Amino acid sequence: MSQQITLAQLKRWLLRYADRIDQEASYLTELDAAIGDADHGVNMQQGMHKLRQRLLNMGDPNDAGLDVSGFLRMTAMTLISSIGGAAGPLYGSFFLHAARTAPHAATVDVTELADLFRSGLTGVRQRGKARPDDKTMIDALEPAVAALEQAAATGAEIPEAMAAACHAAEQGMLHTIGLEARKGRASYLGPRSIGHQDPGATSAYLLIQTAAEAFSENGVPE
Ligand SMILES: Nc1ncnc2c1ncn2[C@@H]1O[C@H](COP(=O)(O)OP(=O)(O)OP(=O)(O)O)[C@@H](O)[C@H]1O
Ligand SMILES: [Mg+2]
Repeated sequence: MSQQITLAQLKRWLLRYADRIDQEASYLTELDAAIGDADHGVNMQQGMHKLRQRLLNMGDPNDAGLDVSGFLRMTAMTLISSIGGAAGPLYGSFFLHAARTAPHAATVDVTELADLFRSGLTGVRQRGKARPDDKTMIDALEPAVAALEQAAATGAEIPEAMAAACHAAEQGMLHTIGLEARKGRASYLGPRSIGHQDPGATSAYLLIQTAAEAFSENGVPE
């Protein structure tokens, strides 16, 4: 049987992401101050604090009667109702669309993971109408999903596949520095947005980075 990602690992991912957002909140806000309205760190913290509470109250997701799809759907609903600004509906769409593709099972393999990440990305694209190179979170997510799909197609195990996704997300995030923003508040700056890293691409990179960490560990207590 191929390697599986468990509900406990999905939970560990999002708890770790909540911690990473706390650590990086002022950095995200600083990035948003340069080309937006200096609230991305605070927006993300609001949502992730709420999600952390829900996850901690839930205990073992299996005992809470959740499968992978239900778990991702609960995550989407929590984020949609609690992240402020543009990022709430966008991250909410990621998890909502991922939930629609996710299996009604307690685990996912690397191919199913690539499929549900692809759906999540499609959700963000439908919601925000941004395309690659518009200088948004898409610029980190799109290469990450492509790398994950490619790794899955060549039979890579989860740690290797997630390392490739993480590296691609980082490159995509760094690529936003040279781009002119065409979506969101940053687009009002036109060419003056060039030279600054996109805050949403940065939080999206952290999402993939924490997934790579959580999915590559096994049997670590929560
Ligand atoms: N249409 C879009 N599609 C995808 N991502 C987007 C879009 N618009 C903005 N973003 C992402 O959202 C980030 C800004 O999120 P933030 O939490 O600061 O919300 P906001 O201040 O309401 O955003 P904005 O004013 O840019 O719409 C941007 O850095 C960008 O990555
Ligand atoms: Mg903002």
